[in-house]
Amino acid sequence: MVELSAVEIAKQAAGRHAAAFVEDGMGVGLGTGSTVRHTIIALGERQPCIRCVATSEQTAVLARDVGLEVVAPEVLGRLDIAVDGADEVDPALNLIKGGGGAHTREKVVAAMAERFVVVVDESKLVDRLGAFGLPIEVIDFAAGVVAARLRDLGAAGVTRRAALSDNGNPILDAAFGEIPDPPALAARLCAIPGVVEHGIFTADMVERVVVSSADARVREIVRES
Ligand code: 5RP
Repeated sequence: MVELSAVEIAKQAAGRHAAAFVEDGMGVGLGTGSTVRHTIIALGERQPCIRCVATSEQTAVLARDVGLEVVAPEVLGRLDIAVDGADEVDPALNLIKGGGGAHTREKVVAAMAERFVVVVDESKLVDRLGAFGLPIEVIDFAAGVVAARLRDLGAAGVTRRAALSDNGNPILDAAFGEIPDPPALAARLCAIPGVVEHGIFTADMVERVVVSSADARVREIVRES
């Protein structure tokens, strides 16, 4: 039998916990990554009567492999719930996402959902966003210009990933360090021509964060409205 690491135990507990929010008849957004993977596997075991929108090719393959129906976003238009991981979560429930390069589709899917549930192990909880390099999807033509604008906005370094997104675009990672006001930075990033999408998900998108520790104890942090 394969021994699971402490982090893997936590990811599994958080991911499986969120599967319980999914009920027959729902339209469900499926995120990308090693935590929400456990949600998808749990749904595959249960086989609820649902239709899903996947946030990446990788997730679509996994979901179909476990027997879930995956359709294009416009088939459903809106979703009852979306479940996804995160790279960082601050106390207000602002997020950094995009470690897996899927944040553009992830944001589209989260915005389609009535409830956006985030699943993380407790290492993702931070006092301030920013230690994790901020992923920014750009059009190829503008990559250099956007990188310069990111430095103007305070990024100490900007690196370009070797791999393209599922949308065929380059992804930059910007080292902002601590981000004191995530919604303000998000607005500035949206205003840069050539930026397709950035990895700040502001707290207003989030309904709750499911957090698990290494001993598989799960708690929910619900956003105060
Ligand atoms: C992919 C993401 C993931 O949700 C994020 O990177 C967290 O992944 P993991 O659950 O593997 O730690 O945003 O683009």
